[in-house]
Amino acid sequence: MTAKPLGIGILGLGTVGSAVGRAFADRQKRLDAAAGRTVRLLGAAVRDPKKARDAGGVPQTTDPFAILDDPAIGLVIEVIGGHQPAFDLQLAAFERGKHVVTANKEVVAKEWDTLHEAARLAHRELRFEAAVGGAVPVIRGLRELQAVRPQVLKGLLNGTTTYICSQLEQGVSFDDALAEAQQKGYAEADPTNDVDGFDAAYKLSILVSLLEGRHFRPEQVRRTSLRSIGPAEAAAAASRGMRLRYLAVADFGEKATKARVGPEEVPADSLEGRAGGPTNVISLESDMAATLVWSGPGAGGDATASAILADVIAIARGMR
Ligand SMILES: NC(=O)c1ccc[n+]([C@@H]2O[C@H](COP(=O)([O-])OP(=O)(O)OC[C@H]3O[C@@H](n4cnc5c(N)ncnc54)[C@H](OP(=O)(O)O)[C@@H]3O)[C@@H](O)[C@H]2O)c1
Repeated sequence: MTAKPLGIGILGLGTVGSAVGRAFADRQKRLDAAAGRTVRLLGAAVRDPKKARDAGGVPQTTDPFAILDDPAIGLVIEVIGGHQPAFDLQLAAFERGKHVVTANKEVVAKEWDTLHEAARLAHRELRFEAAVGGAVPVIRGLRELQAVRPQVLKGLLNGTTTYICSQLEQGVSFDDALAEAQQKGYAEADPTNDVDGFDAAYKLSILVSLLEGRHFRPEQVRRTSLRSIGPAEAAAAASRGMRLRYLAVADFGEKATKARVGPEEVPADSLEGRAGGPTNVISLESDMAATLVWSGPGAGGDATASAILADVIAIARGMR
């Protein structure tokens, strides 16, 4: 392999970052072959250096700038999450001429224009396949559909709410279903992002922005919380052969695009109705391509790491 090696640094070594670290440790040859050059994970920034981690033995630092200022690192994977400091760190990476790969839906959805402009000015790439749909290559899929006029985009974009809905069907109360989701590691300690629809709205904002080629802000997505739903509503839906699911929908009307996330009824035997946990389902109706459907694991460390590594490989292949 004669192409210049690509050094990689990770910001954040939690569920997703650690899975990326393990993947670099256990499939180096596969990654190099796919990338057409040597790709090496050189370091990771964390908050707590004492935490035990299963991250493939990657060297750790508590200073993100030790990663950003390392001249051997040409690509930064941001998996800290949240708006700040992730946003400033991504901008700092572009300022230093690094490519950025992220799984952070919040920062991409909120800062679409600024991040894309920073990447353009730096002549570097911003990729975020892992921000929507986990392992499901839906961002890539939508990018390939630039000739079509989108009509309706619909999907299950949040595994926590799908899990809670499937538990409500079994007669479990909302609070118990949420507690179970937290116990299983599906929902975070603060469940607001999931059950009040922020997570799904960020993801829908990203998908609509891609399809429209301009920023569709998360505030433009109408959000209805899942908290109003209980076993009675789930039973009523079941009596009609339907199931309640936390659906994300974008309607691309002639004049304006309307987007919403919230509980809606779907046929019990549909892909959405049959999903019970982290499975995401995304479908796109368009004028030329009828209905296209993507489905698969939308969360979890390894599933999300596979999307991040696909972005790393794509950037490494495109480098001269
Ligand atoms: N988990 C999933 O299934 C999933 C799926 C798709 C997308 N995502 C997205 O991926 C991103 C990461 O998620 P996650 O589940 O891996 O989160 P996580 O487990 O909470 O990990 C976050 C990591 O960031 C580190 N961190 C926090 N502040 C930092 C700072 N200022 N400097 C350096 N490191 C810092 C933390 O360090 P310490 O460990 O030292 O505290 C931790 O290692 C988020 O944007 C999330 O939305 C996650």
